[in-house]
Amino acid sequence: MTESIKEGLEGIIAGKTAISTVGKEGLDLTYRGYSIHDLAQNATFEEVVFLLLYNRLPTRNQLSGFIDQLNSLRELPAALQSVLKLIPQDTNPMDVLRTGCSMLGTLEPEDGHRTQEHIAKRLLAILPSMLLFWYQYHQGKGSIETTSESEKTIASHLLHLLYGHPATADQIRALDVALILHAEHEFNASTFTCRVITSTLSDFYSAITGGICALRGPLHGGADEAAMEQISKFHSVEEAEEGIKAMLSKKEKVMGFGHRVYKYGDPRSEIIKQWAKNLSSKTGSQVLFSIAEKIEEVMFKEKHLYPNVDFYSALTYHFLGIPTLLFTPLFVISRTAGWCAHIFEQRANNRLIRPIAEYVGPLPMPYIPIEQRT
Ligand code: ACO
Repeated sequence: MTESIKEGLEGIIAGKTAISTVGKEGLDLTYRGYSIHDLAQNATFEEVVFLLLYNRLPTRNQLSGFIDQLNSLRELPAALQSVLKLIPQDTNPMDVLRTGCSMLGTLEPEDGHRTQEHIAKRLLAILPSMLLFWYQYHQGKGSIETTSESEKTIASHLLHLLYGHPATADQIRALDVALILHAEHEFNASTFTCRVITSTLSDFYSAITGGICALRGPLHGGADEAAMEQISKFHSVEEAEEGIKAMLSKKEKVMGFGHRVYKYGDPRSEIIKQWAKNLSSKTGSQVLFSIAEKIEEVMFKEKHLYPNVDFYSALTYHFLGIPTLLFTPLFVISRTAGWCAHIFEQRANNRLIRPIAEYVGPLPMPYIPIEQRT
């Protein structure tokens, strides 16, 4: 029995999906058959969301209709605004989204009046409003307006809410590409969580809330924040080289490196690295970018490990002026697209997900009455 156990379910095929492939030889990462390179080069995040949800690229009219629908769903109900104001300022913003998503499920439950497509669009539209409303409220900005129609896309809306003024075209495109790269990734831990919850016939909000919980940890989505903290500890490339070698000699993990599936490089990393480089030369710190490249070099020389998507995403967000504590919540906003597509797919052909365990506990023994226990 023991030989057949794969710790962490490594390499186990746990189901079928037509949504994306991860790292298959010659195929790289594709969403619905389209290469991540083509999508990051040519598509917008909304186009990718449409593709994931409806299994086809939208026409121009379909896309503009879809964007209008999302824009009309940004509004935060008054009761949700009240709850967001009550969440303490020092809360981890992932907990804010987890709570906000769950609260929305009480206000707009999946009760037969709302289709799963409607709830998917509502979540995609409202999560940025939720996050920035809570953040700006606790930054002393009061109750910010989240429904403005002037910013059409999720990336431009989000940056406008964060900056308090419109972002530049370059800034919007950089965030859009990051959102595209994080949108979907097969049976990763958070998506699998969504599918397990869905398989019990639970509701849409429960599945997404579970996804947020699984993404929060530093071995998954939380790695981007941990990577940024690590990079910014160093003041020079020399310090970075020494520091990373010291970490490795103590068997510490360097965040933003390694991957369960990609053992020869994450195809998303090179794409987002170019954006980090571009922004570093225009607006950011070139020293920080050089430090990151040095860490990449040391990791390869010492461990043959490559950066995953989180490493240079962290720098990209940093150069966009996004506070580190908001990095993983951005991942939620993007990955909600993939989660929703997987919930649809699981529901379309559902079977309860329920593996078995090898029992390693004690053999059966007689029950000891409480007065005889020592
Ligand atoms: N830093 C240092 N060593 C590492 C790292 C790392 N980031 N990643 C793997 N290793 C080493 C391990 O220490 C281990 O070495 P050993 O065999 O000498 O003990 C070996 O590589 C295998 O590592 P595992 O953790 O067993 O590999 P696994 O496939 O389980 O892990 C994971 C994948 C969790 C992503 C791992 O690489 C890691 O912890 N990385 C850092 C966290 C991170 O960046 N997570 C984001 C993943 S991408 C995403 O979720 C979007």
